[in-house]
Amino acid sequence: MQKVAVVGAGRVGETTAQILAEQEICREVVLIDIREDVPQGVALDIFQSAPFFEFDTRVSGSNDPAALQGADVVVVTAGVPRKPGMSRSDVLDTNVQVIDAIVGDVLKYAPDAIIVMVTNPVDVLTYRAWQLTGWPRERVLGQAGVLDASRMAAFIALETGFSALDITTIVLGGHGDSMVPVPRFCTVNGIPVSHFIGPKRLAEIVQRTRDGGAEILALRKNSSAYDAPGASVAAMVDAISHNRNRLLPCVAILQGEYGEDDVAMGVPCLLGERGLVQVIDLGLNDEEMAMFRKSAASVRVDIQRMKSPG
Ligand SMILES: NC(=O)c1ccc[n+]([C@@H]2O[C@H](COP(=O)([O-])OP(=O)(O)OC[C@H]3O[C@@H](n4cnc5c(N)ncnc54)[C@H](O)[C@@H]3O)[C@@H](O)[C@H]2O)c1
Repeated sequence: MQKVAVVGAGRVGETTAQILAEQEICREVVLIDIREDVPQGVALDIFQSAPFFEFDTRVSGSNDPAALQGADVVVVTAGVPRKPGMSRSDVLDTNVQVIDAIVGDVLKYAPDAIIVMVTNPVDVLTYRAWQLTGWPRERVLGQAGVLDASRMAAFIALETGFSALDITTIVLGGHGDSMVPVPRFCTVNGIPVSHFIGPKRLAEIVQRTRDGGAEILALRKNSSAYDAPGASVAAMVDAISHNRNRLLPCVAILQGEYGEDDVAMGVPCLLGERGLVQVIDLGLNDEEMAMFRKSAASVRVDIQRMKSPG
């Protein structure tokens, strides 16, 4: 892959760009932000780490949306993060305006790109970007489940003392209080996690995963999470860049899968060079399906609010 544009040179944007460069996931990273001089400063700072991390990915910054030109992937991290006590939905009204402007720029300058939405509420804004672009769903995705799954894996690693490398988890649904971690599909090197953790502790881990973003926000106080989010976005871009056909939980537009239509939700996706290759249907049991439906309903409430504000 040649070029990735990261719109929003804030905390998540900067971390994402650093990892993309450090791991040479693409040849060029451009950071775009409305704050004068800031993306240029961030880009220079990242590029000055090149000798240590031994990369030669070019990193630049710009205030001009024309810098989107030629981007294969556009990562959108622009907008406001929530503050302690706020839900992701509370920033919808502000962020929808930011996203509308950015999608207009993407249509103008990078009409063949793949969009990876990060800005919250990510399910609703992925849906918005899909609607505004009119692109096939394959090219409009959102990042949420990779992060939620990595949070759950971290909690299982802390609980068991096992290496985080051996832990595989999956989290579906909306990126909010109604997200659906699925312990039945979580393993430690292929062994069901229930072999190592009892039902009560597992239920606590599931709840801690749902609250994972709020926990970081409460601890950090003046910032929401950005290290694990940046790594999660980079994992999605890497799957696309290297045409890996990786199975990752991503926000995708549903067209009948899981019994849902015309909504953006976290589902297991195959990701390759064209973006979404396939949504994988897991065959959820009744209890899991009920949680998934509840989560879909809560995303729909926000989509409806976005469509008819006030
Ligand atoms: N999906 C996820 O898993 C996930 C995880 C973490 C954060 N987030 C979300 O990502 C977003 C960014 O979080 P952050 O901590 O980096 O915030 P931040 O405040 O550090 O950065 C946001 C940046 O967006 C820029 N911006 C605002 N309007 C813009 C526009 N029209 N064009 C270009 N740039 C613009 C701001 O100047 C700022 O630099 C928030 O909405 C946050 O909730 C999502």
